[in-house]
Amino acid sequence: MILTPKAICFDAYGTLFDVHSVGQLAESLFPGKGKALSQLWRDKQVEYTRLRSMSGRYKPFWEITVDALNYCGAALGLDLGAAQRDALMAQYARLSAFPENLQALQRLQASGLPLAIHTNGNPEMIAQAVESAGMSGMFSTVLSADRVRRYKVDASVYQLAPDFFNCQASELLFVSSNGWDVCGATWFGFKTFWVNRSGAPAECLDVLPSYIGSSLDDVVSLVCK
Ligand code: LAC
Repeated sequence: MILTPKAICFDAYGTLFDVHSVGQLAESLFPGKGKALSQLWRDKQVEYTRLRSMSGRYKPFWEITVDALNYCGAALGLDLGAAQRDALMAQYARLSAFPENLQALQRLQASGLPLAIHTNGNPEMIAQAVESAGMSGMFSTVLSADRVRRYKVDASVYQLAPDFFNCQASELLFVSSNGWDVCGATWFGFKTFWVNRSGAPAECLDVLPSYIGSSLDDVVSLVCK
C-alpha cells in the first residue's frame, strides 16, 4: 500500500539517533553497569520531560539530560565525576544513527516528500546530532519542543507540524520508535508509524498507531513507489 502524506515528521532520539549507543562508553567507564546506566538514563530523561511539562517548569532537553545522568550516577552508585559526565554528554551529542537510516532518508528525500525532525531536543543539540550523523541537508525544518517550552505528549508540541506545513494533522505522517510518542501523536491526529525496533509490546493506552514496522526501511516501503 502506498501512502502519500504532505510531509513526514521524525522523532529524533531513539528513532533517528540510537540513544543506547552511549552504552559502550558507559560500560567502559563503569564495567558491568553500562546497560543499566543507558536504560535508566533514558527513562529518567523522559520522566523529567513529563514532570517539567506538567508543572510548567521547562528546562531545555540538554539540561534535562544532564540532570537525568546525575540522578543515575547516584541511583546506581557510580563514581560519576565531571570527567565521566563530560565524556558521556559529549557522546550523547554525537549519538550513532541506526544503520539503515541514512539510506532510507535519502530514498524518502528523493521521492520529493518534505522531511522534518519533530523532537523534544533543543535546536542546538539536534543541529550537532544531525551533523555528526551525516544527515545535514536532509530535513526541511527542525520542529523543537523548545519553541513552546512544553514536551511531548503535550498537544502544543505536535501542533508545530500542521502549523509549519499549513495542513491538517491527518495529512502528515509522524514516525517514532517510542511507543508512548506514537500514541501521543495518534491521539493528536497524525497518521503514525511506529518503528518498533526492539519488538516491544504496544502501550496499553487505548490507541494504536496507524502503521507498524521494524525499521525506517518499512517507512520507505509505505510511502515510496
Ligand atoms: C525526541 C525524544 C522524545 O526526540 O525521543 O523527541
